[in-house]
Amino acid sequence: REAVARRVDALVRLVPDYPEPGVLFRDITPLLADGPAFGDVIASLAGAAPGGVDLVAGMEARGFLLAAPVAAHLGAGVLPVRKAGKLPGPTASASYSLEYGQASIEIHPTTVPDGARVLVIDDVLATGGTAAATVELLQSCGAHVVGLAFLVEIAGLAGRSRLGGLPIDTVLTVD
Ligand code: PRP
Ligand code: MG
Repeated sequence: REAVARRVDALVRLVPDYPEPGVLFRDITPLLADGPAFGDVIASLAGAAPGGVDLVAGMEARGFLLAAPVAAHLGAGVLPVRKAGKLPGPTASASYSLEYGQASIEIHPTTVPDGARVLVIDDVLATGGTAAATVELLQSCGAHVVGLAFLVEIAGLAGRSRLGGLPIDTVLTVD
C-alpha cells in the first residue's frame, strides 16, 4: 500500500497555476499511462469497498477512468455521474461549487435500484464539493453510499469534513 502511494506520488505531475492562477493542478495522465502502476491503483481502490458493492459511481471526467475498471474488478456495475446536459433523462441533479467554477451533476436514477450499495470513486478529493454533491444526489435517489475512495486527498482543503462521516479511503494523502 505504501509502495503504491509512492508510485502515485511519483507519477502525478504537479502543474502550478492551471487552469487558473493559484490552482495547483494534479495531472494523472502519466499514472494512467503506466500499466503496472495503473493496475495497482485500481486494485487498491477496489480494496476500499466495504462489504458488497452493487454499483461504483465515478464523476465525469477523471472519475470515469478509475470507476469503470474498479467496477469491473469488483464485478459491480458502473454509474456515470455526468456534468449537466449530457444524459437524455429523466435525470436527477445536484449543484456544487468547485475549487474553480460552478457546476451541476446528473445521473439516471432509474439505474439506481432502491437501497443499492454504491462506492463513489474520483481521482482527487479537494474541497469535497464534487464528492458531497455526488453523495447527496445518490442518497436522494435511494442509494446506500457505502464509502468513497480517491487516488489523492488534499488534506489541507478539508473535503473530508463535508462527507458526513462516511468511510473514505485514499491511496495518497498530501497537504
Ligand atoms: C476535479 C477532480 C475532482 C474535483 C475535485 O474535477 O477530478 O473531480 O475536481 O475537486 P473538489 O473536491 O474541490 O470538488 P474537475 O471538475 O476539474 O473536472 P474533470 O474531472 O472533468 O477534469
Ligand atoms: Mg473530476
